[in-house]
Amino acid sequence: MACADTDAHKGKLFAARHGIARVYADYRQMLDRENPDLVSVCTWHPLHAEMTIAAAARRPKAILCEKPMATSTGEAEAIMIACQRNGVKLAIGFQRRFLPAWVKARELVLGGAVGRPERVMHTRRTGLLNAASHGFDCMRYLLGDLAVEWVFAQVERKTDRYERSVRCEDCVGGHLRFEGGVQGSFQTDLVEEDKWALVQGSEGMVDFDDGWVRYLNAQTRGWREVKVGELDPMAAQAQELVDWIEGRVEHRNRAENGMWTMQMMMGAYESARCHEVVRLPMQTRVKPLDLMVESGQLLVERPGRYDVRSFLLGGEAMRLEV
Ligand SMILES: NC(=O)c1ccc[n+]([C@@H]2O[C@H](COP(=O)([O-])OP(=O)(O)OC[C@H]3O[C@@H](n4cnc5c(N)ncnc54)[C@H](O)[C@@H]3O)[C@@H](O)[C@H]2O)c1
Repeated sequence: MACADTDAHKGKLFAARHGIARVYADYRQMLDRENPDLVSVCTWHPLHAEMTIAAAARRPKAILCEKPMATSTGEAEAIMIACQRNGVKLAIGFQRRFLPAWVKARELVLGGAVGRPERVMHTRRTGLLNAASHGFDCMRYLLGDLAVEWVFAQVERKTDRYERSVRCEDCVGGHLRFEGGVQGSFQTDLVEEDKWALVQGSEGMVDFDDGWVRYLNAQTRGWREVKVGELDPMAAQAQELVDWIEGRVEHRNRAENGMWTMQMMMGAYESARCHEVVRLPMQTRVKPLDLMVESGQLLVERPGRYDVRSFLLGGEAMRLEV
């Protein structure tokens, strides 16, 4: 096992924690020397495309790239092409799909506990590409990975806000329509209460978080709690990658699902940019939020760049005891 980090201090800490023998400063050198079977790309999102494409060129058996897959659908597309051409399996790190509560909620929805799914709602206090990317992924996961037909959204960005060096919005809200007619809605940075995906059907509702699930319908006479076990979702995600390589299953986080999440998020920005319903998959491949800011369509009214993840910064003696 080996790891690469441009910050020597962080690289050493990571290696010590996970019993890793060799630490590199240059990830390309690591790929060339180690010839790995599995690669985990876990840098900030602007590096996901460059690193995943470089890793794919060395033909490992599989790559696990962290969420969000990239910062634009164009980058995500380039990643998929590189992996397909090199015959490399690619999964995106939406490990929450392995949490027993998420799995149970999905079973309830797909098993008919709420009748025919009609509406799904996601609310989150952090930006679209951050935790809300799990929420967008979750909406599709609960509905059996349905395609998304369109997105219609509004975006506010009056402060110069970034997340892990990626330009982000102050808040966003909107609607989606899934294949078959299920309606979705989402809000980020607008609510106190976080919901990954509250599902309402013709006969009831499913509500859950990472550690619990409850549902109601005509038989339950109010909310019925369902017991769920515990499991390390990161380990389960990695195990499924091995099972996928060995042909036992298809990975639930395969890149096609990560791409749908990119389409939904970038589609929301594009809808705000064009003031229209955006049909998915869309043709715009750059990040529409950047277009809006750079063209002056979305003006910063309270200047001063800041990053909501500035506490992660290292290097230049900013020591992190991670
Ligand atoms: N799946 C999840 O639930 C989850 C949770 C947290 C973070 N993430 C994702 O993981 C990614 C990393 O986030 P984080 O919070 O772990 O960041 P982090 O800052 O803790 O770690 C990133 C590391 O990358 C290193 N790095 C930067 N440039 C590099 C380069 N060129 N070569 C090698 N190493 C380099 C940094 O020094 C740092 O140690 C993000 O995309 C984030 O969205 C996913």
